[in-house]
Amino acid sequence: MHRVKSFFLLLFVLALCWNCTAPDDKERQVIDFNSGWHFQLGDHPNAISADFDVSNWRELNLPHDWSIEGDFSEDHPTKPEGGALPAGIGWYRKAFRLPTEAKEQSIWIEFDGVYRNGEVWINGHRLGIRPNGYSSFKYDLSEFLNYGDDVNVLAVRVDNSQQPNSRWYTGSGIYRNVRLIRTGKVHVEHWGTYVTTPEITDSSASVNMEVMVKNEGFNERNLTVRSTILDAEGEEVAQEEHSLTLGNGESTDIMQHFTVPSPKLWSTEQPYLYKVVTQVFAGMQLMDDYQTPLGIRYFEFDAKEGFSLNGKPMKILGVCNHHDLGALGAAVNKRAIERRLEILKEMGVNAIRTAHNPPAPELLELCDEMGFIVQDEAFDVWKKKKVDADSHLFWEEWHRRDLEDLILRDRNHPSIMMWSIGNEIREQFDSTGISITKELVRIVKSLDTTRVVTCALTENIPSKNFIYQSKALDLLGFNYKHKDHKKFPKWYPGEKLIATENMSALATRGQYDFPSDTVMRWPQAHDKPLETGNDDLTVSAYDQVSAYWGSTHEETWKSIKDQDFMAGLFVWTGFDYLGEPIPYPYPARSSYFGIVDLAGFPKDSYYMYKSEWTSDTVLHVFPHWNWEEGQEVDVWAYYNQADEVELFLNGESLGTKKKVGDDLHVMWRVPYEPGTLRAVSRKDGKAILEKKVFTAGDAQKVTLNPDRKIIKADGKDLSFITVNICDMDGNMVPNANNMVNFEIQGEGKIMGVDNGYQASLEPFKANYRKAFNGKCLLIVQSTGEAGNISIRATAEHLQPGEIVLETVD
Ligand code: GAL
Repeated sequence: MHRVKSFFLLLFVLALCWNCTAPDDKERQVIDFNSGWHFQLGDHPNAISADFDVSNWRELNLPHDWSIEGDFSEDHPTKPEGGALPAGIGWYRKAFRLPTEAKEQSIWIEFDGVYRNGEVWINGHRLGIRPNGYSSFKYDLSEFLNYGDDVNVLAVRVDNSQQPNSRWYTGSGIYRNVRLIRTGKVHVEHWGTYVTTPEITDSSASVNMEVMVKNEGFNERNLTVRSTILDAEGEEVAQEEHSLTLGNGESTDIMQHFTVPSPKLWSTEQPYLYKVVTQVFAGMQLMDDYQTPLGIRYFEFDAKEGFSLNGKPMKILGVCNHHDLGALGAAVNKRAIERRLEILKEMGVNAIRTAHNPPAPELLELCDEMGFIVQDEAFDVWKKKKVDADSHLFWEEWHRRDLEDLILRDRNHPSIMMWSIGNEIREQFDSTGISITKELVRIVKSLDTTRVVTCALTENIPSKNFIYQSKALDLLGFNYKHKDHKKFPKWYPGEKLIATENMSALATRGQYDFPSDTVMRWPQAHDKPLETGNDDLTVSAYDQVSAYWGSTHEETWKSIKDQDFMAGLFVWTGFDYLGEPIPYPYPARSSYFGIVDLAGFPKDSYYMYKSEWTSDTVLHVFPHWNWEEGQEVDVWAYYNQADEVELFLNGESLGTKKKVGDDLHVMWRVPYEPGTLRAVSRKDGKAILEKKVFTAGDAQKVTLNPDRKIIKADGKDLSFITVNICDMDGNMVPNANNMVNFEIQGEGKIMGVDNGYQASLEPFKANYRKAFNGKCLLIVQSTGEAGNISIRATAEHLQPGEIVLETVD
């Protein structure tokens, strides 16, 4: 009797404990596996064995891109199109121990991306190879691991030697994050949840959750899967439990259904996020916990009305971006991505196209959090190549897996609303395009039916476009066809449309060529040598130059802004990127297409967009005011929320100008004299904004302006410091190109330097940089310790700049 009583007491206590398990109780350990790696360039096949000696290899932390550390050369097989930086083969090794109790766990390793041909061994066992450098992958390690005092060794061979394999800079190495996952033997599968919101009204949202559960080592067990939806404040809003039995080695999918009362919707202005915490119990023991982001929103593409989010019509105002982070190369850093998104948000961008490959997961997390709509793109090539060693080489064997993995990895991000199965794919021009499109769309739809599938097309004659002929796309994307857009509703009756890629306008920050009102297309044809151009390989930053297949920023925006049927557009590109330095040959080595330069400094067209795409009051006047006496200088102003702008030079009016018709700027042609330009925008006769541009005197000092003075002491966080060469009054000297040297002390290190000049051959990893058109950039990273970072910037004959940053835990 006594025994029976104790048994029930025990059950009662256990049940109580189980019910007490809060959604934030943890069993799964997600271990940042980026530190303590050894690296060596070249091929080292013996490095797979655990006793291989790496004492002379370099120690580093991931993410790591060895290409960005190299010197530029025209002779590198990557070519200037690929950034003119070295590629080749490199090896990484990491030794680690696991406690004995980890024997009772399932353990796997996750790689977010290895460029390219990442081949992985654990303790001498080959786990596999992943050719596609943008795909995320994982390997189960449990059966090969040692525990206790015995060491484990991971070895990764990265082979980026086959070149050229890309039309842009890729980077080389384990350039994205790596994690080790330790969890119970019964657990949620890798990428093992799928959350959807089939019905949304003001009063409630229904949420469906599919959970894939696996038993990897217990005899038949009674399991409970409990999922809890938490709001942004961490309050529980709904919960579901599901019981099941799984035998050893079995896995299953379960469906859970929830109702969220009075849902707060995710939008680009208010990106409200819930999350779902899924816990798996074997009997009463917590075996795993897993988090899934949840945004409640609905959207629609309409052939006549374009795009709407949560029932509100809006235009997708997007930019395309490649994945490199300028001076940091391809090596992922969340703060660097966040800074880019902040700069774009400020300009009014509300969407990102991940040209032309799966992005880093951190980009998607940030788009969820900051409110960007994402077009997540899978491929730049299918079977037919664009360059010799691109991914067509492994299309047959890998395309299904690469596409499936992209959808499985990314389908819970509320920011994603479009899947793109390709960019300017060669197969659009022949009938093979039909079957491949159908196959790829089938793959996507087998894993997600809640987004539209699109493809960025260039052939706009319907009968000649075989991807269109497949009739499998939900949304037709067109690149560079703004002159034909008007005809599209007739050519493609009933189809939904978006301008997936546009402009390809060219500019160098701070470069102004006259006259500014002639439009130039460079190069006129692929095989024609460049006929005009600046000797220093710069391009005018007046919006007057574009690639011949594109347009200036103003041309395309004017044509799209009033086309209701066009869901939106993506500008090529938000930021300059490494590689593809059209229109110039080497030493040009990075692109001119960005609205923002490689260092993150906006070019002038940034403010045209800002005046059109935001509700902020804008008055931007350029160029600088340091010219030759008597020279005719074109002064442009972008403005909004005003009827007119009046310009004054040294107090004298140069006249009032108004935008007429579809104008997006006003211009004055002014005989130069030094002094002060002053512009005033007015509405109903009342001054709205005033801007002054001063003639700068001689360079006298270096100034340092960090984007953040206090950063996290986590060995990852960054401060981006703008370095200006200024006259005594603090005006930036617009043509200054002084060499600046940096000294740094305390809890920080230099991660990179840049100045945005597309033809600079200075290294990005250095403690010096020449200013370009008055400025350069210093990127500083915290060490792991809290404290101060003192930075001093010196330049010959100039007063040095000094700042102190703080790193905090
Ligand atoms: C497009 C292509 C982009 C980029 C751009 C340059 O045709 O999709 O990847 O090459 O041209 O203008």
